[in-house]
Amino acid sequence: MIRIENANLIYDMGKGTETYALKNIDLTIRENKFYGILGPSGSGKSSLLYILSGLKNPSSGKVLYKESDFNKMKNKELSIIRNSEFGFVFQRHFLIDYLTSLQNVLVPLDSNRAEDINRAKDLLRELGLEKEINKKPNQLSGGQRQRVAIARALINRPKVIFADEITASLDHKNAFEVMKVLKAYKKETTIIVVTHDESILEGVDEIINIWDGSIKDDKSKQVKKCMK
Ligand SMILES: Nc1ncnc2c1ncn2[C@@H]1O[C@H](COP(=O)(O)OP(=O)(O)OP(=O)(O)O)[C@@H](O)[C@H]1O
Ligand SMILES: [Mg+2]
Repeated sequence: MIRIENANLIYDMGKGTETYALKNIDLTIRENKFYGILGPSGSGKSSLLYILSGLKNPSSGKVLYKESDFNKMKNKELSIIRNSEFGFVFQRHFLIDYLTSLQNVLVPLDSNRAEDINRAKDLLRELGLEKEINKKPNQLSGGQRQRVAIARALINRPKVIFADEITASLDHKNAFEVMKVLKAYKKETTIIVVTHDESILEGVDEIINIWDGSIKDDKSKQVKKCMK
């Protein structure tokens, strides 16, 4: 569904403060699977999510979505894909201050149809926000806001969900609930979750380990261990 071919991402190229955020990345993301991107702070997890979703272009190499190169798509084409096929949940939640939880969740649909409103309410309930449906973001805790953002990402039934450290501000119980809700969408959606916390990735289909901008497979991990 998404394929990265020999991609590199360099920030501040030619400025003397160059950072090689991603190095020689080859990666295939398959349909309806749940992926975890795991690595320490600064290892390139968010950068990988940005190039996977076409938010950033790699400095070299290719990223293909359904066999089309993001870099060759027109801006309009790319924004249609982003709005209708991708769902994003980032560390900062970007909720709209003057809208309630329910209204925020409905933003991507721009709809007042009863069935959409019911679906939004169901999603909020599933995420443990039954009592928060009519509250505004400043009346919610950090973790509750994060969950509203997750419901908003799920409302238009995206083909791919990109989630960056979405459980970082949640306690363990809520983090597991959120992962459970996401997992339930695997039948219809590819899910890519970035985290530094391996424990929330229990039961995912594949873990992509990233270290210093490179993907490490299990074999190289074993080699490293042997060399120690
Ligand atoms: N906009 C930017 N300009 C310059 N360097 C950047 C930029 N964004 C990230 N970097 C650098 O690229 C590297 C990878 O950053 P990235 O944000 O992808 O890491 P991360 O794994 O998501 O970290 P964290 O867990 O802290 O969010 C880091 O060395 C970082 O300092
Ligand atoms: Mg990050």
